[in-house]
Amino acid sequence: MQFPENSTSREDLTSRLREAISRDADWRGGKIFSLVYFAGDDVAEVLKEAYTTAFYSNGLGPAAFKSLKKFESEVVAMTGGLLSHPEAAGNMTSGGTESILMAVKTARDWARTEKGISNPQMVIPVTAHPAFDKAAHYLGVEVIHTPLGEDFRADVGAMRDAIIDNTILLVGSAPCYPFGAIDPIPEIAALAAGRGVLCHVDACLGGYLLPFVERLGRPVSAPWDFRVPGVTSISADLHKYGYSARGASVILYRDRELRRHQFFATSDWPGGLYGSPTLAGSRPGGAIAAAWAVLNYLGVEGYTRLARVVLDSTDALMDGINGIPDLHVIGDPDMSVVAFTSEALDIHAVADVLDEAGWHPDRQQYPASLHIMVTPAHEHAVQPFLAALEGAAERVRTQGAVPSGKAAVYGMLEKMPDRGQVQNVVLDSMDRLTQVKQDAPSRD
Ligand SMILES: Cc1ncc(COP(=O)(O)O)c(C=O)c1O
Repeated sequence: MQFPENSTSREDLTSRLREAISRDADWRGGKIFSLVYFAGDDVAEVLKEAYTTAFYSNGLGPAAFKSLKKFESEVVAMTGGLLSHPEAAGNMTSGGTESILMAVKTARDWARTEKGISNPQMVIPVTAHPAFDKAAHYLGVEVIHTPLGEDFRADVGAMRDAIIDNTILLVGSAPCYPFGAIDPIPEIAALAAGRGVLCHVDACLGGYLLPFVERLGRPVSAPWDFRVPGVTSISADLHKYGYSARGASVILYRDRELRRHQFFATSDWPGGLYGSPTLAGSRPGGAIAAAWAVLNYLGVEGYTRLARVVLDSTDALMDGINGIPDLHVIGDPDMSVVAFTSEALDIHAVADVLDEAGWHPDRQQYPASLHIMVTPAHEHAVQPFLAALEGAAERVRTQGAVPSGKAAVYGMLEKMPDRGQVQNVVLDSMDRLTQVKQDAPSRD
């Protein structure tokens, strides 16, 4: 595959693009359970229009792009209000990982300035998203992972025991990715406040859904937003249950003083004075404009309507799963993120059979389980998925594993005691992913 010598026509490019994309996962039909949060064609049209209108604009230059300054500050203000603190200070970022990276950087620099801590440590439950480990890896922060209680929520006692003089940050999720459970945020935040450290709530999944779950009168296991004293920052992803275009999240702080530690500025560069609020330098205007548009398009009414669809589908899926012999939901999920497992069947073999049938729940470990995140796109997929799942469970019960399936590999990787070796398997596969196959025809 060489850099093209000549131009290719728009028509040819479009048809090659469409052809390649047609072989991607069927997210419109609800066949995958992560990665895309599709809220319908009307929302898609609103997003496309806003995105393409602003796609040349660059959020790095608020003076040149006053429109983006307005959109971003309004998205932040609307999100602050939604999360019970209209005066919260924040920024838009490219996604959950960047928001979390910013929260950890803020905690690190706050602790360095305010407490003179130069070798920071943070305490996170094992279910916290790997973005925290990535942030720690990038930023030179030690991470202590603490176990869960029997309810698959953070064990606050274990977090308390892990705090040392250099601890800068405690983390809880609302909800966590693996089991969809909200951690006991009031207890975690009280612990943090009592020990004089910061508390971040990762509401990347729940930030734009839980407020509407509560509006529907459905109780969640614990308060989790700025209503809780001691919560100092929250991440909430617009490109998940905010239904925005990919590349959009919000990071919020209780006050502007704290947010200041997030910023970067240098005054000595020959290229001029330089300031950047988040990790990215240039920031895509399309993602900012689309987020602003979808919040205004849906409003409380639209998000509440979609939340009802998501919760009804989730309830039907959980009831259906629990009704299939040998399968059960893990713990007590708070919204629409559900893991299920089996003590009698190899659940990864069940996933292999589902793969063959075109359904792709995600695979998990500790315990071996399958994972679904329910979106409005799954409304009409509930019954077909449950029928496929029941059939898959029955096939594994009677015939065992699919010979060509991945179950054996997953089983082996989960049990390998040398986790460094497993990490290398992941690194190798990432290395291969962006290699063009030597023998592949140029259009593949
Ligand atoms: C709870 C939670 N936090 C953070 C993230 C990271 O978000 P992103 O993939 O947008 O970087 C995810 C992604 O699924 C998540 O579920």
